[in-house]
Amino acid sequence: MTLEKDNLWYKDAVIYQLHVRTFSDSNADGIGDFAGLTQRLDYLEELGITAIWLLPFYPSPLRDDGYDIADYTSVHASYGSLEDFKTFLAEAHRRGLRIIIEMVLNHTSDQHPWFREARSSRENPRRDWYVWSETDTRYQGVPIVFVDTETSNWAWDPISKSYYWHRFFSHQPDLNFDNPAVFEAVWEVMKFWLNLGVDGFRLDAVAYLVEREGTLCENLPETHAIIRELRKRLDLAYPGAMLLAEANQWPADVRAYFGDGDEFHAAFHFPLMPRMFMAVKLEDRKPIIEILDQTPEIPESCQWFIFLRNHDELTLEMVTDVERDYMYDEYATDKTMRINRGIRRRLAPMMDNDRRQIELLNGLLMSMPGTPIVYYGDEIGMGDNIYLGDRNGVRTPMQWNSALNAGFSLADPERLYAPVISNAVYGYQAVNADSQKRSEHSLLRWMKSLLQVRNAFQVFSRGTIQFLNPSNHRVLAYMRQFGEETVLVVNNLSSSAQAVELDVQRYKGYIPIEMFGRNLFPRFGNSPYLLTLGPYQFYWFQLRRI
Ligand code: GLC
Ligand code: CA
Repeated sequence: MTLEKDNLWYKDAVIYQLHVRTFSDSNADGIGDFAGLTQRLDYLEELGITAIWLLPFYPSPLRDDGYDIADYTSVHASYGSLEDFKTFLAEAHRRGLRIIIEMVLNHTSDQHPWFREARSSRENPRRDWYVWSETDTRYQGVPIVFVDTETSNWAWDPISKSYYWHRFFSHQPDLNFDNPAVFEAVWEVMKFWLNLGVDGFRLDAVAYLVEREGTLCENLPETHAIIRELRKRLDLAYPGAMLLAEANQWPADVRAYFGDGDEFHAAFHFPLMPRMFMAVKLEDRKPIIEILDQTPEIPESCQWFIFLRNHDELTLEMVTDVERDYMYDEYATDKTMRINRGIRRRLAPMMDNDRRQIELLNGLLMSMPGTPIVYYGDEIGMGDNIYLGDRNGVRTPMQWNSALNAGFSLADPERLYAPVISNAVYGYQAVNADSQKRSEHSLLRWMKSLLQVRNAFQVFSRGTIQFLNPSNHRVLAYMRQFGEETVLVVNNLSSSAQAVELDVQRYKGYIPIEMFGRNLFPRFGNSPYLLTLGPYQFYWFQLRRI
């Protein structure tokens, strides 16, 4: 591979997202660790993913699953040592797997030494590293993210007798990016991990870095200036390292985070995600087409990152009120399934464990424009535990086999950081990686073949998309095109069989090859192309002029 191509690795990647704590426990203390994760790399390589996104593994009081960082340059003792991390990184790289880590710039834990110093006295040199106020009335109107737990973005500090600003939990004070020393400290932290060899960062909560009176304190020009400076330094010293933006915003606002190709390399496409679920429930392609029509072009070197589920609630911030009610009614009838403005469930249970719908959604994920992310466990159809607090219901131990603790740990079950799923439908006896490896028709084996096809054609990662407009609106069909590669994707979003007539005049004379079986379908002719699809069925056709 040329260096230039290599530097765009994130465009052709398939990402697997996991938390080291949830994956594999090597020393029987009930908590997953880097040594355990390293032993599982063969599994991930075999699955066909090309990069791993690690959730925060830093020392932390773990009141927000590690997003409350108390030390940015070491590893939480439960997960092992920095040496263990280095071994993991080397072993991943040896297999050609890239590693993306979390960088939480917006805030620290209130246990971080920076904050302890800052609150210790108003004269402390670190005082100005955080955002303080005498009153709790500044920045009125700024939305609260964790609406179920927080009532204000200000919290009272009894030690220094003033208020500090926090966009998330009150134990997560926001850093003050108006202070250049904060920026330098953060850059030092990033260099530390880059020097170890990590391939990229997910920058958490990046829309909220800077606050200004009279604004919503989101997406401010000052925030973009900070990102541009970070990117400049990154490109100079660490070309090929990637920055991924977590900005839960509308596409037009997220577009700004790509700049002129001089801010982020990649950004999550948050609004697309709920619309994939909506389209399947409504049996109508409209939500997906609408949001992609509203999605602006991005610079050549940039990429959207797309996903179905992740470690957070299925966020419903980027939908209308009507759409949110619809999603709640359809996917979270039990109120226990709701949290903040979202739904805390995994993919398989949301699909009622219907294999056809699970496949359809994964098929969409792997064929729509962008770099796809698979949330750990979703490749085997793991369930969730809605009775665990916060978002922990989708963070239960990985289910490896039907042995004790799902093969995750040899500790006593009571000692696990969270109970394994053990109900009759999704429990580890019924759903686990080992048994799915052994069964040819398992979801795991199916996911492998899906990834194999996806990885063999760059058109999926780099190609343009053009929607077809058949009169049957239950069918979502699009052409992907890149260089010599053209692929036609046809999805039946409905629970019943459908027929569709596709206008493929432009490709008259081409032969569609079904990409999983490599079988030839009838050549495109003059009349509309007729296809029939079973419930939730989809086709990927490679178009060839033979
Ligand atoms: C991001 C993370 C979420 C965390 C929050 C605060 O949104 O995805 O898990 O709670 O930031 O750090
Ligand atoms: Ca352990």
